[in-house]
Amino acid sequence: MAIIQSNQQIAQGIWRMAISGAPTGRAGQFFMLRVPGAVNLLLGRPISICQSDAGTGETTFVYQTVGRGTAQFATLKPGQEIDAQGPYGNGFSLKEGHTVIIGGGIGTAPLLQLAKELRVGDPDRRIDVYLGFREESYLENAFELYADSVTVKRGGFVTGDVDFSLNAQYYACGPAPMLRAVANAAEKANATLFLSLEKHMACGVGACLGCTCQTNGGRKRICKDGPVFDYREVRDAI
Ligand SMILES: Cc1cc2nc3c(=O)[nH]c(=O)nc-3n(C[C@H](O)[C@H](O)[C@H](O)COP(=O)(O)OP(=O)(O)OC[C@H]3O[C@@H](n4cnc5c(N)ncnc54)[C@H](O)[C@@H]3O)c2cc1C
Ligand code: FES
Repeated sequence: MAIIQSNQQIAQGIWRMAISGAPTGRAGQFFMLRVPGAVNLLLGRPISICQSDAGTGETTFVYQTVGRGTAQFATLKPGQEIDAQGPYGNGFSLKEGHTVIIGGGIGTAPLLQLAKELRVGDPDRRIDVYLGFREESYLENAFELYADSVTVKRGGFVTGDVDFSLNAQYYACGPAPMLRAVANAAEKANATLFLSLEKHMACGVGACLGCTCQTNGGRKRICKDGPVFDYREVRDAI
């Protein structure tokens, strides 16, 4: 069991929770989180690593309360236990050179650890971040620690601000319409783009086949073969 270190609301319906006592992971990986003893909630819920600190052993998540599982997370207090299985998934592969990161809504959460790992790996590289929110924004100050520029849009589509013709690597996570827009733009510009996909998950470890999606290479499990894919591989799944 992991222990809650902090659990605070940071925006309307958005919470940041830090835990200790679980193995640390890398950008793009996730944990299956579950409140122990929760009635009628036997399955964990997949939540991405937002920040992982191997020094302190702390892992931070940022989650949106959308249903019963995430509402239960919001009741947890420092010192209480949480069942944290993971880290699972392939994570982002870190490419060299200029990087453009595009996040929409709660999809911004896994991209913070990505920005951090890219910056630590190469202090001189250029990192441009584009964040889109329906209303209230969050995490932009944290991105500023690692990025050369952070563009935030509230309402509308932040993807319209992104230049896909740069000699850069593109990474995106967010709602499906945003991912489709990003993939279309990347295709037109023949850009390199990696997407982190979401689907309901039961096991999180590749056993139940509940999270498969169609790819160029046949059906793949988002939890085990992903959640990060080259966009060309998953055009039909988004
Ligand atoms: C790999 C991965 C990483 C994720 N990382 C994060 C994260 O960092 N922060 C975060 O807030 N959420 C994240 N999610 C989504 C999160 O897992 C769901 O919001 C959560 O499982 C909902 O559980 P619940 O019991 O609160 O809601 P439920 O009661 O299960 O569902 C409530 C509503 O949300 C919808 N819903 C539930 N899960 C999803 C989903 N995966 N995609 C789209 N709609 C869904 C349901 O259809 C329903 O309408 C991630 C999902 C995946 C697959
Ligand atoms: S959630 Fe069970 S195979 Fe992916």
